[in-house]
Amino acid sequence: MSEPTKQGVEPRVEPEPLAGRRVEPRVLRVPTESRSGANYYEVCLGRGLLSELGGLILSRCPAHGYGVITDSQVVTRYGAVVLESLRTAGGEVQLFQFPAGEWNKTREVWARASDEMLRAGFGRDGAVVALGGGVVGDLGGFVAATFLRGIPVVQVPTTLVAMLDSSIGGKTGVDTPAGKNLVGAFHPPALVVIDPETLGTLPAHQLAAGLAEAFKHGAIADAEYFERVAGSVGAFFAHDMDALEWMILRSLEIKAEVVAADEREAGYRKVLNFGHTVAHALEAITGYELLHGEAVAIGMVAEVRLGERVGVTRAGDAERLSRALEGARLPTELPADVSADAFFRAVALDKKRAGGVVEYTLLEEIGRVARSGDAWTRPVPEAVAREVLFGG
Ligand code: GLY
Repeated sequence: MSEPTKQGVEPRVEPEPLAGRRVEPRVLRVPTESRSGANYYEVCLGRGLLSELGGLILSRCPAHGYGVITDSQVVTRYGAVVLESLRTAGGEVQLFQFPAGEWNKTREVWARASDEMLRAGFGRDGAVVALGGGVVGDLGGFVAATFLRGIPVVQVPTTLVAMLDSSIGGKTGVDTPAGKNLVGAFHPPALVVIDPETLGTLPAHQLAAGLAEAFKHGAIADAEYFERVAGSVGAFFAHDMDALEWMILRSLEIKAEVVAADEREAGYRKVLNFGHTVAHALEAITGYELLHGEAVAIGMVAEVRLGERVGVTRAGDAERLSRALEGARLPTELPADVSADAFFRAVALDKKRAGGVVEYTLLEEIGRVARSGDAWTRPVPEAVAREVLFGG
């Protein structure tokens, strides 16, 4: 990627020999300006790491007690192994769980989890371990960001979408009736631990939803990676761990490079919002029936069509993107029951507006975002978007 990283802070990947460890994780260092006392955090990636979580967390994020925040689905699969690993390593641990589902990423659930941690006696020397998918990571991260004005969070993503996207970069928050992620905070993790073996139990539609983020990273930054992901879909669905690992690693590198350059989304980080102006509106309208990655897949195709229509994106790329996403069993068309009026009302409530005009991240071509001076998004008049997305 040709974009600015601050001098001396490029993300680094290195295999890390850790004596006595069964798993040798690859470690990616992500620069941050937002964590007190540290100018980077580590993302550890390795098969079987979940059962070694305790040692990793105690050595890299020491705390008096750990509040493991998870949901009702993840707890049945991984709750026991994570608690056991933390306790064996000597950690004081308590489990907090809430019902699974994007519709539970609310202020009410955030308040309940925070109250339960207060009742359990957690103090400023505690830490949160967010174990699960994107909802758990965003909500658990927001609990950590606000608990006693901020305690560390360790992100342990167990879905592909969370591994590739939401577990790194420090965005935390909850949804509101007005839209997704409208209340939140930047709170970079103290540590991220990714065990690709957890993908072995992930339902196919959730794996597909995660692949939407991999395609997104390719589309904004690396056309070769985009094609390689498209050509490896069969291997991903067959849970080929080598294929999954290189894909996760490359996506992490791309995302880390972006957040290293613009952690607080002053400008450049907006490239990661490709597809999201449309996606967030669809998620809100459909009551989160679409998985986030499914909405992003539809949103990316819609935004490339917009780009083609306004002459910014190379003609034919919407078709190329659609084919790749369909090959990964992802939807590419707006749901038939979404009306133009409901859609533009939801878009207007979302946060990607400048002076009242809705902004979209547009591609120049697959592999490169269109830039306009210092801006990485462009306003598209509603009349044009109506015509392209709803035929008028
Ligand atoms: N998911 C977009 C971002 O992290 O900025």
